[in-house]
Amino acid sequence: MLSFNRTRNQPRANRSMSLGGMDYVDPKKKSNYVGKILMAGALTALCILMLRQSTSFSTPSAFSRREAGVTHVLVTGGAGYIGSHAALRLLKDSHRVTIVDNLSRGNLGAIKVLQELFPEPGRLQFLFADLGDPKAVNKIFSENAFDAVMHFAAVAYVGESTLDPLKYYHNITSNTLVVLEAMAVHGVKTLIYSSTCATYGEPEKMPITEETPQIPINPYGKAKKMAEDIILDFHKNSKMAVMILRYFNVIGSDPEGRLGEAPRPELREHGRISGACFDAAREITPGLKVRGTDYKTPDGTCIRDYIDVTDLVDAHVKALEKAMPGKVGIYNVGTGKGKSVKEFVEACKKATGATIKVEFLPRRPGDYAEVYSDPSKILRDLNWTAKYTNLQDSLQVAWRWQKSHVNGYGPALATTD
Ligand SMILES: NC(=O)c1ccc[n+]([C@@H]2O[C@H](COP(=O)([O-])OP(=O)(O)OC[C@H]3O[C@@H](n4cnc5c(N)ncnc54)[C@H](O)[C@@H]3O)[C@@H](O)[C@H]2O)c1
Repeated sequence: MLSFNRTRNQPRANRSMSLGGMDYVDPKKKSNYVGKILMAGALTALCILMLRQSTSFSTPSAFSRREAGVTHVLVTGGAGYIGSHAALRLLKDSHRVTIVDNLSRGNLGAIKVLQELFPEPGRLQFLFADLGDPKAVNKIFSENAFDAVMHFAAVAYVGESTLDPLKYYHNITSNTLVVLEAMAVHGVKTLIYSSTCATYGEPEKMPITEETPQIPINPYGKAKKMAEDIILDFHKNSKMAVMILRYFNVIGSDPEGRLGEAPRPELREHGRISGACFDAAREITPGLKVRGTDYKTPDGTCIRDYIDVTDLVDAHVKALEKAMPGKVGIYNVGTGKGKSVKEFVEACKKATGATIKVEFLPRRPGDYAEVYSDPSKILRDLNWTAKYTNLQDSLQVAWRWQKSHVNGYGPALATTD
């Protein structure tokens, strides 16, 4: 770098110029011919250097300019479980990806995996930022030319949302507003939004279609429903292409074992069932706590629709491909089949080969008995259907990653099988 160091009080004649770390005394006093030539040479070199410098500054990075045939996708929450898997698929499909994450719940390790897989310039960049900071978000949008946004970033635990609802309204609803405003101001044309079956609450009729009334019963579901409403209201007067995907319960991980699910240990208490099963299988926890055995279901435990993350990511890619300007598509993303918690635990026992001790406890506040999707609309419109529907197989893939990453994205250990 070039820098001019001169003290204000220094007499002009004695000022020195620092050039590439070398000091040159101002040669005015000894104005001989050789000195003048040297000075002219130095100034010419300086000008060339400054010119080069300014050229490199003004050359836009690949991320800041549009390129024909390349779709630049902003993946918010790309350091998290689903976002990282989505980023991997997008990169594999030759898209350009910018990940924005505040790492509050995600893992830098997942970003490193992606960077090692796609080191070429202009493929992947990671920007550390909080979506709750509109200035930071605006700066990101003004410095990057996004074609689409996949908005995954969120806090996403039903139990935690009942204990800390304001965090959920802020992080989910308000941050979605920030992202949407930035998209509108900067003319980003496509939004794929991560919503959830929790927006339906506890409908009387199963399976759940996209027409099922949305009556969420916990702050997580309510915050997501509000975010959906904001997007839909905005969309009424916009040419934006919008896809809202309502996921059911996501499980599994990258079949090639590059990425996995690694939530913060402190979130274990609120955690999802697969994480809880694996923790019990690895004896990190003494056993598995099944909350609620008196639901109106065949075996008394809750019924959920478990969707493999590979299928889910595929639904995003199809949504991106089929998104149409001025149109909005709302889709359930599930298998269409419900599995009880007891069935899940049995599949997990087989997948891990571990004896999992199960403790049955009273219901958890905010939980609902039975939830499974009717995914026929997404099949009809986007030609998407779940392929990885064997619970045990999905859990086996996830277990392989868990076993070789006992510290999550910390130092990896060798597997034993
Ligand atoms: N996992 C599921 O079963 C499931 C089901 C339905 C919907 N979803 C939705 O899918 C999305 C992704 O969920 P996930 O399971 O990957 O969660 P995750 O916690 O693994 O990932 C979320 C990511 O968002 C980041 N993040 C959170 N707040 C942020 C902020 N203010 N600014 C920037 N980054 C922020 C976190 O650091 C994390 O990396 C969420 O919107 C969630 O509601 C998940």
